[in-house]
Amino acid sequence: MTANSEAGLQYDRIRAVEWEEGRIKLIDQHLLPARLEYLYLGTLDHCAQAIRDMAVRGAPAIGITAAYAVVLGARDCYIENPRDWTEAIEADLEHLAHARPTAVNLRWAVERMRAVIRAGIPGNPVPRLLAEARAIHAEDIAANRRMGELGAALIAVGSGVLTHCNTGSLATGGFGTALGVVRAGYAQQRIGRVFADETRPWLQGARLTAWELVQERIPVTLIADGAAAWLMKQNQVQWVIVGADRIVANGDTANKIGTYMTALVARQHGVKFMVVAPTSTVDMATPDGDAIPIETRAEGEVFEFGGARVAPEGARAWNPVFDVTPAELIDAIVTEKGVVEQPTRAKMTALMTSNS
Ligand code: MRU
Repeated sequence: MTANSEAGLQYDRIRAVEWEEGRIKLIDQHLLPARLEYLYLGTLDHCAQAIRDMAVRGAPAIGITAAYAVVLGARDCYIENPRDWTEAIEADLEHLAHARPTAVNLRWAVERMRAVIRAGIPGNPVPRLLAEARAIHAEDIAANRRMGELGAALIAVGSGVLTHCNTGSLATGGFGTALGVVRAGYAQQRIGRVFADETRPWLQGARLTAWELVQERIPVTLIADGAAAWLMKQNQVQWVIVGADRIVANGDTANKIGTYMTALVARQHGVKFMVVAPTSTVDMATPDGDAIPIETRAEGEVFEFGGARVAPEGARAWNPVFDVTPAELIDAIVTEKGVVEQPTRAKMTALMTSNS
């Protein structure tokens, strides 16, 4: 086995976000798996809209899109006002950073781009900002590959795994977080079977994770979210592997709604629970999970299934789209800087202050 095949790089062909000839090219994730079509966005405002509408989604992919969006915003502000463009762009940066509230990568990426602007860019800001956005993108892919290696190493040969939501190339710069571990683990034959929760209501698991794995020829078995406990009861999975939208200072982790329930069920059945996320998803300024803002989306997402209404008129719906898994239910947090087992505030601090 070569180093590349062991790392699973043969299963890395999809890119959700690209910079192409002065525009952002996004896979339109509303249309998958029926159609693979691209959106071409030329303004910061259109990017904020695409993030809000979830044409692009997944915490790292949102951050990368936002970084490229800042390039577009700076270009337009500079053309309009070459002397005072750095002040003019401030309101746009805030607008972009608030497009979705839970995934901290969005604000992280905007802050990193803002720091470059504040450091001073002589003349046309596009080349410098584009270099920074490209660096954010490249670092994310490198982090995912590293996490793939670190996460796969925790898994015994021939294991079954369950994943939730979509955490793959569609949700990141490429390769994926939890799905990066699945790619690497499958390449190394540590993972024998992959189960994916369908992930109601938006169906990221059924529509996106299953599509990605089918594209890569990694066998996948979909389950209804409510089947996870019964799957574990049959000893079919040894690990649950998920991504994160925000990991806070004590290790509590916000991720797609249903993650908390899956973690509770995993603990009950002796199944290990792994969270895989780059350090751009770690928010040490938020003390614990109670302080994480949880996005609530429109009722319509719950009333419908695949675009068809399934609930009667007159019913109401509650649609929080993330939940928080307490640190004590997590066996391992895998980042590109290293693995934290049984996370605590002290261990998270040690990880984030280490130089590795
Ligand atoms: O609402 P979404 O689809 O943006 O939610 C995505 C998730 O919850 C992912 O698990 C998380 O962002 C990690 S993606 C690598």
